[in-house]
Amino acid sequence: MNIITVKDAQEGGQKAFNIFKEALAADAKVFGLATGSTPITLYNALTASDLDFSQKISINLDEYVGLAPDNPQSYHYFMQQHLFNQKPFKTSYVPNGLAKDADAETQRYDDIIAANPIDLQILGIGRNGHIGFNEPGSPLNGKTHKVPLTQSTIDANARFFDNEEDVPRFAYSMGIGSIMTAKHILLMAYGENKADAIQKMVEGPVTNHVPASALQNHNHVTVIVDEAAASKL
Ligand code: GLP
Repeated sequence: MNIITVKDAQEGGQKAFNIFKEALAADAKVFGLATGSTPITLYNALTASDLDFSQKISINLDEYVGLAPDNPQSYHYFMQQHLFNQKPFKTSYVPNGLAKDADAETQRYDDIIAANPIDLQILGIGRNGHIGFNEPGSPLNGKTHKVPLTQSTIDANARFFDNEEDVPRFAYSMGIGSIMTAKHILLMAYGENKADAIQKMVEGPVTNHVPASALQNHNHVTVIVDEAAASKL
């Protein structure tokens, strides 16, 4: 893993932006995207730039089960607000939170990933080491699946909802195996509450108790962390 330590999320977003720019210059076609507060500085840098994604494809990591695309808490909505409205892609894929048949939806998403190999995958990390919504215990070779969210993740994400009870209990997520097929993975983490997860991801054993530790087995991973998130390394 190539670890880049930055002063803050602002500088991290700029570094991540440069990696996006290099990927475009190298003719990358498919971008794996993530939600959460972490990638916002990157998306701000992208929307402020003159980069053009109108011939590119994006594939998002995950979506809450039960939320419509126009629900302000959905990841569809998040992506529209933070990136797609300003920088449309030719095609943007996000799991369908309202899909009636979970097996059909996860198969549909796996087919999309297989048909569009990801050149650059953006990741944040959960406080418990999850990536996408692959919670501790997820198989390291898993494909897209419907996952029950852990209480730690529900608590962490409750800040975006009016009440904790409103946080969906399930999500669709690309699997760790799907994420590992990306040619280049760029994980960002800011703040002290990510320090444990980052330490375990980088220095701990590869174990499905810390889903992000699987990245140790990938040959092209860039990690952008601020000093607080890097403090336990
Ligand atoms: C959610 C998302 C993850 C994200 C994580 C961290 O659980 N499913 O993709 O990495 O939150 O979010 P944040 O960046 O807000 O800390």
